[in-house]
Amino acid sequence: MPEVKLEAWLEETRQFAPSPAFAADANAQPGIYEAAISDPAAWWRTQAYRLVWDQPPTQTLEWDSPNARWFGDGTLNASVNCVDRHVAAGRGDKVAFHWVADAEGDERTITYRDLLSMVSQTAHALTELGVQKGDRVAVYMPMIPEAVVAMLAIVRVGAAHSVVFGGFSADALASRINDSDCRFVVTADGAFRRGSISPLKPAVDEALASCPGVKSVLVVRRTGAEVGWVDGRDHWWHDVVERQSTTHLPEFFEAEHLLFLMYTSGTTGTPKGIYHTTAGYLVGAATTYFNVLDAKPESDVSWTAADIGWITGHSYIVYGPLINGMTQVLYEGLPDSGGQDRWWRIIEKYGVTVLYTAPTTIRMLMKWGEDIPRAHDLGSLRLLGTVGEPINPEAWMWYREHVGGNRCPIVDTWWQTETGTMMIAPLPGITATKPGAAMRALPGIGVDIVDNDGNSVGNGEAGYLVLTAPWPSMARGIYGDPERFRSTYWSRFPGRYFAGDGAKRDENGDIWLLGRIDDVMNISGHRLSTTEVEHSLVGHPAVAEAAVVGASDELTGQAIVAFVTLKQSALVDGDDQTELIESLRRHVATTISPIAKPRQIILTPELPKTRSGKIMRRLLLDVAEHRSLGDVTTLTDPTVVNMIATLMTSHSANDD
Ligand code: WTA
Repeated sequence: MPEVKLEAWLEETRQFAPSPAFAADANAQPGIYEAAISDPAAWWRTQAYRLVWDQPPTQTLEWDSPNARWFGDGTLNASVNCVDRHVAAGRGDKVAFHWVADAEGDERTITYRDLLSMVSQTAHALTELGVQKGDRVAVYMPMIPEAVVAMLAIVRVGAAHSVVFGGFSADALASRINDSDCRFVVTADGAFRRGSISPLKPAVDEALASCPGVKSVLVVRRTGAEVGWVDGRDHWWHDVVERQSTTHLPEFFEAEHLLFLMYTSGTTGTPKGIYHTTAGYLVGAATTYFNVLDAKPESDVSWTAADIGWITGHSYIVYGPLINGMTQVLYEGLPDSGGQDRWWRIIEKYGVTVLYTAPTTIRMLMKWGEDIPRAHDLGSLRLLGTVGEPINPEAWMWYREHVGGNRCPIVDTWWQTETGTMMIAPLPGITATKPGAAMRALPGIGVDIVDNDGNSVGNGEAGYLVLTAPWPSMARGIYGDPERFRSTYWSRFPGRYFAGDGAKRDENGDIWLLGRIDDVMNISGHRLSTTEVEHSLVGHPAVAEAAVVGASDELTGQAIVAFVTLKQSALVDGDDQTELIESLRRHVATTISPIAKPRQIILTPELPKTRSGKIMRRLLLDVAEHRSLGDVTTLTDPTVVNMIATLMTSHSANDD
């Protein structure tokens, strides 16, 4: 059961009533919860009319746990919903994206009409390269408009995208490509990050050495860096896309047609391809974006500061906002590309009204100091959101005061790659907010908090978060592994979805998230499993055994601490040890991603194990978080853990 750290805050917590000014004009109006609770399926059926359909559905839900079909007899095209419909309705000149490059001064404005032309050309290009309905296409791209265009063009022709975050290594890319048998890759020569180039095409080339199934690679020229080329396989975007017709007649697909795969970490070593289908996912994205981020397409300039390589980018940069016809900022760089005030300058320049980001970023901005936002006019902002990890009340208050001018509601949104869209969040204008609480299940979503036996726990008690009823944007499976889908999510409490998070309700019944209860770590909002990092470390020739824990970290939420025993032949001391630790950290970065680099690696002669040979990760976590050690009597050798604690304090953190 998760440890409850929020007790003190709950006692004296401050609560912010819904702002009357906001409420008057909010999309979500009182009565919405009641309407949804009385008949959730009927409520979702009305939300389905946010989409444009070729064949409107007459069916709502068929449910045979864990298999759901939503709006099963409807047909539609996802890219038509995001783009064509707005042009057809006379909104072609409306800006879809203000794209802001990493480098100062490099900006592009893309209207819905431009977007339609680009998506149409790319759809033709993909068809010319051989992409067909039902194919999977990997996307490994920087945050440039072509990334969004590629996603929309892929789904327009009935294929599915599998976007791999550009920060993942060649190995990680290769395993994702092979797991879902992608035949095509869309990439760029490289990405700009704070002015320097991080190569993408070279990583694709390296990955493809072990992906014999890939037939074609489409490459956007972004950095101009020289890249390797395989004739016949590799194609420049500007050669293939730009000569195509700017009109494209879309086909329509079934509601349950595969829309995309998104790989995410679970408790085992291999990331799983979470499987989302078309109509239900789009209904969820459109509805939550409308109600929670209070979409006002006529007047908003929205900015979801996330990467399209993660689910947040899929649901709240691409599908949710585009279906709602929003104008958005799409930003390529880091929060401090061009200075620590870059974000505030972007908000000021474009008049950003809705900002949605992650607690880890808020903590970083907070560390840089409030003088930086104070020097800018952030008066255009009217609503703030957060996602990705529990937000600590201090960061929440800072966000409210120094970014939102004590005027903007904050929506803390809990959801997952698997849920597709937001599940627990306040509705601005209706729900009161509390610093650190995600508050309430959204309309149409059933949430409970249960004990080991699946019984609801009372207010004030921590338990396992479960979702009690199917919802439209729920994952339909794990690609190629239906059994893993059932056993991971639907068997712990049969018929209910097991989220893997701990939660509690406070005395008013409002929901607080307490973090993961399994071996999934959350590093700066990025999900990684301890096993994944352990596998990588054990893959290094010097390593005999490794145990990894996610220790709490002020800035990144959790940070990776690894305890490693070396093979006899690899034992070293002194400077050689420092060098070896560095090479282990590099090894993890190249086999998974720089995000997965351990903050600290402790070389130890042994790991603490129970008599049955299980590594005691709980104890290692205590060591990593410098807590006093509890009961160690079940260990084969209790002295081992004390020795590790001593080693831990003698090694300084080997962070970058
Ligand atoms: C965590 C990101 C607390 C949680 C959209 C979940 C959160 C995991 C919140 C999913 C939040 C996400 N408060 N915890 N508001 N949002 N999480 O799949 O542990 O990358 O299970 O999806 O992030 O991460 P994922």
